[in-house]
Amino acid sequence: MPSDPVEQTKQIKTASDIVAVVGGYLALAPAGRTFKALCPFHNDSRPSLDVDPRLQRYRCWSCQAHGDVFAFVQHMEKVGFKEARQILAVRAGIKLDETQSPQDQARVRLLGVMRWAQEKYQDCLLNDPAGAAAVAYIAGRKLSGKTVRDFGLGFAPLGGEWLTRLAFAERVPVEVLGEVGLLLERHGGRGHFDRFQDRVMFPIRDVQGRPVGFGGRIMPESPLLPRAPKYYNSAETPLFSKSELLYGLDLARHAGAAVGYLAVVEGYTDVMMAHQCGVPQVVATMGTALNARHVAQLRRYAPKVVLVYDADAGGMTGVDRALELFVGQDVELAVATLPDGLDPCDLLVRPGGLETFKAILTSAVDALDFKLNRLLDRDPNPSVEGTRRIIDEVLGVMAAAPVVPNRAGQVKQELIVTRLAHRLGLRQETVWARFGELKRERKQKDFQSAAKTGPLVQASAARETRPAPDQPAGKTGPVVAAEMQLLELLLAHPGFVPQAAAVMSADDLTHTGLRRMLVELYSLQAAGLTPDVDTLRDRLADRPDLFEAAEKRLFVGQHMQEPEQNLARILGWFSKHKKEVGERALTARLKGGALDPDQAAELLRKLQDRRAGG
Ligand code: UTP
Ligand code: MN
Repeated sequence: MPSDPVEQTKQIKTASDIVAVVGGYLALAPAGRTFKALCPFHNDSRPSLDVDPRLQRYRCWSCQAHGDVFAFVQHMEKVGFKEARQILAVRAGIKLDETQSPQDQARVRLLGVMRWAQEKYQDCLLNDPAGAAAVAYIAGRKLSGKTVRDFGLGFAPLGGEWLTRLAFAERVPVEVLGEVGLLLERHGGRGHFDRFQDRVMFPIRDVQGRPVGFGGRIMPESPLLPRAPKYYNSAETPLFSKSELLYGLDLARHAGAAVGYLAVVEGYTDVMMAHQCGVPQVVATMGTALNARHVAQLRRYAPKVVLVYDADAGGMTGVDRALELFVGQDVELAVATLPDGLDPCDLLVRPGGLETFKAILTSAVDALDFKLNRLLDRDPNPSVEGTRRIIDEVLGVMAAAPVVPNRAGQVKQELIVTRLAHRLGLRQETVWARFGELKRERKQKDFQSAAKTGPLVQASAARETRPAPDQPAGKTGPVVAAEMQLLELLLAHPGFVPQAAAVMSADDLTHTGLRRMLVELYSLQAAGLTPDVDTLRDRLADRPDLFEAAEKRLFVGQHMQEPEQNLARILGWFSKHKKEVGERALTARLKGGALDPDQAAELLRKLQDRRAGG
């Protein structure tokens, strides 16, 4: 076995015949010396993808996609070279021997443990008498054996020491099982017990289909029931972040690329049933609202997201929040409404349900039109005043969205204004003018509430608008702008938190809202939790306004270029600023007189120390 990575890459390439690999994804038809297929990289009507066994390359004559077997897998699986290499190595039965960083090693360990647990749970469901009731429950939900296997479902039995004993018997490290939240430590120290009991286990997998977490649903007749919640999840780990993962994406992404959209539903069973019924372009969020990170992921596979939405349950807030997310991003958003408060799973098992579900997806309405329709339904012939209210409501969402100054964001704003003007029979200039007003009003409001309660001000607002009269001096301008940038960066890159904590104290921040966020991030980090927006949610339970601001800041942070350099620059700025402030304060006290000579000498010495770089 060659250990040189270049040698290994060659070896993998030799072992991966491009015809066989492409043929694993697409139907190939021989055509002379080459093979032809429908190109998966654009909306192909005639087979324009050529696969050449002699050159070991592919090329699409229509969309110009081309490359070797690695490029094909990268493009097809939407992964980088390293992952493609890994996928092909596994396929060819070649064991990669790479030197791994400690981080990689930790990930491999977590993945190994998760895979092990998934096998054990599944084995219990399918082969252990203890799993019989769970099999019956799953069958009662009309999920087929194939679906159960495709999604890797399992069962965690009652008892409390089932997994713990297996772990000991098979020498699986219990600490790691504890870390991933499958075992809990007994009170007072010694030993562990199973966290999941009497639950159907849904493995939650990453895009590459590797289990990284579990959701467990308690059995309907469980003796544990009154005390235990219906669902819970395994712990957040570097591999499992609830706010980022989309359930079913590993199975849905190809279908999504093929049909041009991915549909987002609420639950595991909704996703599973949709797949079972032949509608695989469906994923679910993990009990959190759709956020910018979800959207960024979905965008990799399809240009459009269809939010499947229960008309009775959510009200309009869900749609408004999603709309904000999409204003600045290069993604189309449509809304599909379910009838009668049914979830997709309930709907799909009804007679005719599949046709209804498909029709709902294909007739999904562009989110902006959806909102406009709802407003116009309520008030079909609005008066001047009513029209004004409608414009304000739609533009309000747009004004609230973090503005990403890119072409796509601009195009989208233009589109919205044009559409709004058209549907309400107004001139575009009128709508633009009102939009400008609303944005200014919004900034003004931000300032006023910042002065009272201390939530965030927009960095741009700090530059462009004069502070409101009751704005305390020193609360805006470069200091707050820098503080804001720091938080944006940390929210988007929680891995930077230790670095920031090492050099600056949260007390150094002047803005009370931002200071509170930084305090919580530091304290999460100190407690060994991932200091990201989702763990922050709990810590800011008393301040939903701050949490909302944090989410917006996260979004802005994600669009920052060169985060490392930015972090260094910002931290550098703070250290310089702190020094300057300290000097000014000392100088002021010296100048102010009213000091006895000893005090004055002491201050002078401090000032000199500081200037010397202390
Ligand atoms: P349901 O409450 O309908 O769950 O939530 P269910 O298992 O279908 O229960 P019953 O039989 O109707 O009472 C629908 C989906 O929402 C997610 C799950 O994925 C579930 O499939 N969910 C619900 C959670 O993730 N956590 C929860 O606490 C509740
Ligand atoms: Mn249900």
